[in-house]
Amino acid sequence: VDDKVSQNNWENHSFLNYKKNVETLNIVRERLKRPFTFAEKILYGHLDDPYGQDIERGVSYLKLRPDRVACQDATAQMAILQFMSAGMPQVATPTTVHCDHLIEAQIGGEKDLARAIDINNEVYNFLATACAKYNIGFWRPGSGIIHQIVLENYAFPGALMIGTDSHTPNAGGLGMLAIGVGGADAVDVMAGLPWELKAPKIIGVKLTGKLSGWTAPKDIILKVAGILTVKGGTGAIVEYFGDGVDSLSCTGMATICNMGAEIGATTSTFPYNMRMADYLKATKRGFVAEQANLFADHLKADEGAEYDQLIEIDLNTLEPHVNGPFTPDLATPISKMKEVAVENGWPTDVKVALIGSCTNSSYEDMSRAASIAQDALNHGLKAQSLYTVTPGSEQIRATIARDGQLKVFEEFGGLLLANACGPCIGQWDRRDVKKGEKNTIVSSYNRNFTGRNDSNPATHAFVTSPDLVTAFAIAGDLRFNPMTDTLKDKDGNEFMLAEPTGAGLPALGYDPGTDTYQAPPEDRTVVTVAVAPESDRLQVLKPFAPWDGSDGYSLPILIKSKGKTTTDHISQAGPWLKYRGHLENISNNYMIGAINAENDKANTVKNFFTGEYAGVPDTARNYRDRGQKWVVVGGDNFGEGSSREHAALEPRFLGGFAIIAKSFARIHETNLKKQGMLPLTFADPSAYDKIQPDDTVDVIGVTTLAPGKNLKLVIHPKTGDVWETELAHTYNAEQIEWFKAGSALNKMAAAQK
Ligand code: F3S
Repeated sequence: VDDKVSQNNWENHSFLNYKKNVETLNIVRERLKRPFTFAEKILYGHLDDPYGQDIERGVSYLKLRPDRVACQDATAQMAILQFMSAGMPQVATPTTVHCDHLIEAQIGGEKDLARAIDINNEVYNFLATACAKYNIGFWRPGSGIIHQIVLENYAFPGALMIGTDSHTPNAGGLGMLAIGVGGADAVDVMAGLPWELKAPKIIGVKLTGKLSGWTAPKDIILKVAGILTVKGGTGAIVEYFGDGVDSLSCTGMATICNMGAEIGATTSTFPYNMRMADYLKATKRGFVAEQANLFADHLKADEGAEYDQLIEIDLNTLEPHVNGPFTPDLATPISKMKEVAVENGWPTDVKVALIGSCTNSSYEDMSRAASIAQDALNHGLKAQSLYTVTPGSEQIRATIARDGQLKVFEEFGGLLLANACGPCIGQWDRRDVKKGEKNTIVSSYNRNFTGRNDSNPATHAFVTSPDLVTAFAIAGDLRFNPMTDTLKDKDGNEFMLAEPTGAGLPALGYDPGTDTYQAPPEDRTVVTVAVAPESDRLQVLKPFAPWDGSDGYSLPILIKSKGKTTTDHISQAGPWLKYRGHLENISNNYMIGAINAENDKANTVKNFFTGEYAGVPDTARNYRDRGQKWVVVGGDNFGEGSSREHAALEPRFLGGFAIIAKSFARIHETNLKKQGMLPLTFADPSAYDKIQPDDTVDVIGVTTLAPGKNLKLVIHPKTGDVWETELAHTYNAEQIEWFKAGSALNKMAAAQK
């Protein structure tokens, strides 16, 4: 039924594959003879080899054929540079690139965008020409945030997509499996190779009841994050189901899936329903909804499907939540916030309130926030805190401009920022507080690790719904609970804010706004990709050397990091974003945010040879230039946070051999393997405490590296006896080949030849 029905309105070479997916799944059904969850149906329907593939949740590595790839501009640079080095004429899987990460928020949308286009001209040019050359859809700066554009244009129920950004799961709001990966994975799929994923476990979240009042979809994921913590979703897909689902808008479901990244989940998804069909129609994709309706049985879990873990949430009793500071899983219900904030000494004065971002900038979010702002205005009040509004896309911006919400925000004192990531990724020239000054900000974003938004480690960032962000902005105080507390109007009379209201979809349809899309040209042979040799922002890649065939002996520990080591600690964002396409330059940020266990300082490590203290990247370079390999020792969930492969490219470029941690975040671990670094874990986690930063280590067993076989770490303390401990790894046979070749890309280029 679906032969040659387009996936979207932009491409004439991508089609819905429902029929084929069902056929592929049926082969697996014959073999496994059991009911499947919805996520399993999507995964197994996209298998490269449904007859031969081993399938055991949490154990096997699945080889998959994704329908699409999406890249944002910060990660696309390296992904495309890598794709170019494999020497192919065009991408083999439909791909889009989105310019959203490089726009710094300073004074307001239009001016910030113009400045960004000026500053990043070289990068945008490179991306625009490379996209034209390799048949990639290009969304220009100003078009919006990748996940919003994908939801509005490309996502469809039952699809499998990978994206080079950790919040790619946002598209789960349209019933697809959208998974955040590193650029190296994107390169594989762009080149037509199957993509590998460890068969995820499935966590079921059953929603009962109905959302109402101040409780918003965001509160579901804030609650789930509190239950599962930042590690609880690792290696799992979170699949929502139950009667409560129908009370959520499609974009509300997207919010929930988006922030599933914060619990480490592979992705999150919802079964196909009429709310999704309505959204598809509203975004001019009724033809996709028609096909999805025909395959509706395929687009939900089978009766009796089993989950590895089950959580139940009653939406009737769910309270609004505020999560933070410093970690997205510290969940506090609004009724407890006052008490908890005071107990912990969190600054209660809310300096800045930020709504929007990829997480929460739907028409519904904007309308509800505007209804609260309007209520305040009706009582003669404006925002007490600085209030910023980041629309997720040009379409959202144009629609709220037409429908009046934007005007309300402006009257309320709000500042409209560009349709881009801005403060969410640290692209924020914040001027209202000094670095180091303790202060509180609240946002409707998804992530609030230390320094994420404004590079100020003393900023206490809380994430919550746009509704509560707006309420906090009016009160200017974190202790305010709009469900119980009163405010004083301009005449001193007490009143309570009315519950927010807002339509899920615009009654007049979406206004597309300015055209910001660049389609690939008919004749792509005449296009030349622009990379200037003297550029400090783009650098054509040289392949890494293959493994030299030996174990590692007497390796210094570059740094033993203490506490959380997220990808923000390993390869900071903010000002460094501009070097995402230049490996040599961006390597100057390697681990500069990590805390050295020896002296509790960031970016101050002792050089093993000279005894002098210097920055981490300088010390690593010094080792590399001496021909000395090194290791890093780290704690739990090493590399949690984002999918950026720079966090893996940099140690490789600087001559690292292995990263030895208590445990790894999935994407970072795979990225390290792709770049030819060895990610190894302590079989006995207490060895982490015993190792000292100035020990040297031997990594033994690399020469006989095999799936499931532990390695040995021999530790030579400065003083005292040599001791040893076991190291585990998660390599499969193919990944071992990557390591031997020097990187996955080397292996791929060799296969091409
Ligand atoms: Fe951008 Fe923040 Fe989303 S950085 S993609 S808006 S998480």
